[in-house]
Amino acid sequence: MTIDKLKLQFEIPGKVSFAAGPNGRPTIELQSRHAEATVSLYGAHVLQFKYQNSEPILWLSQQSQFTPGKAIRGGIPVCWPWFGRNSAHPDWPLHGVARLQDWAVFSTTSTADSVSVCLVLPPSELTKSYFPFHHQVMLTVTVSDMLEVCLATENKDNVPFDLPGALHNYFAISAIENIHIAGLDSITYHDSLLNSRHIQNGPIHFSAETDRIYTDTPDTCHIVDPGKKRTIIIEKSGSKSTVIWNPWIEKAKRMPDFGDNEYLEMVCVETANAAQNTIQVQPGETHELVTRISLRKEK
Ligand code: BG6
Repeated sequence: MTIDKLKLQFEIPGKVSFAAGPNGRPTIELQSRHAEATVSLYGAHVLQFKYQNSEPILWLSQQSQFTPGKAIRGGIPVCWPWFGRNSAHPDWPLHGVARLQDWAVFSTTSTADSVSVCLVLPPSELTKSYFPFHHQVMLTVTVSDMLEVCLATENKDNVPFDLPGALHNYFAISAIENIHIAGLDSITYHDSLLNSRHIQNGPIHFSAETDRIYTDTPDTCHIVDPGKKRTIIIEKSGSKSTVIWNPWIEKAKRMPDFGDNEYLEMVCVETANAAQNTIQVQPGETHELVTRISLRKEK
């Protein structure tokens, strides 16, 4: 649909507007009384979220390529219908195919305090070739005094299907070595770099490449950032895993869409269902994976 048609059908003056995004794909601007977000139709990808008169909460790479067929680097990639490497087909695209396709606007709504857009992934040969089940997948982004992203997958088939996945949140931070993440103390994690299991002891600090899946944890995480005098709060539901990722120096250099020094200013705290927390969705059921992001300013 063209931007003009999107405006005609879905614009809400002062709250929902449409523009041409960096890759020519339409972006949606959502504006509440407190905050604003930008969402790309490519990948149903939240590109940015910020409070009025405040710095961005999400991190978006300066080197992101915005190329069709490639994922956008930063913001909130939608990892669907699997997370990371597909366990049965390691050669399939990392993190699934939803982030590589154009989504469509289903509806826009607003109240006095919030504004939402609901997107739908239209059926495609690409999705069908990797995920041959009848389904409907929708992503609703709501901006109020926080950002809420809900990925809803309905099983319209007559057999159950497995559904690993993630909302792969990238956050902007002052300096990776000065922040810490609270909320995962005593939780067991799979270290994807060492391929071994460990138990978290205290908050997470960073001094090397970090790639971990914390399992059986529905809890809220906090990114405590004294440099920016703020704490980012990540609440969730429908998620039992939290993935923590920072590529550090060497991996950052290997990634073409990631600046060599950008690892210093980002951290991923991903709302996920991975490893043993893979969900099974029964016929007729809908699974909702939800991440809620808000901010506490420190004095
Ligand atoms: C994380 C994974 O979720 O995503 C990492 O745990 C991976 O292993 C990272 O490198 C980025 O993935 P991609 O496909 O966006 O480069």
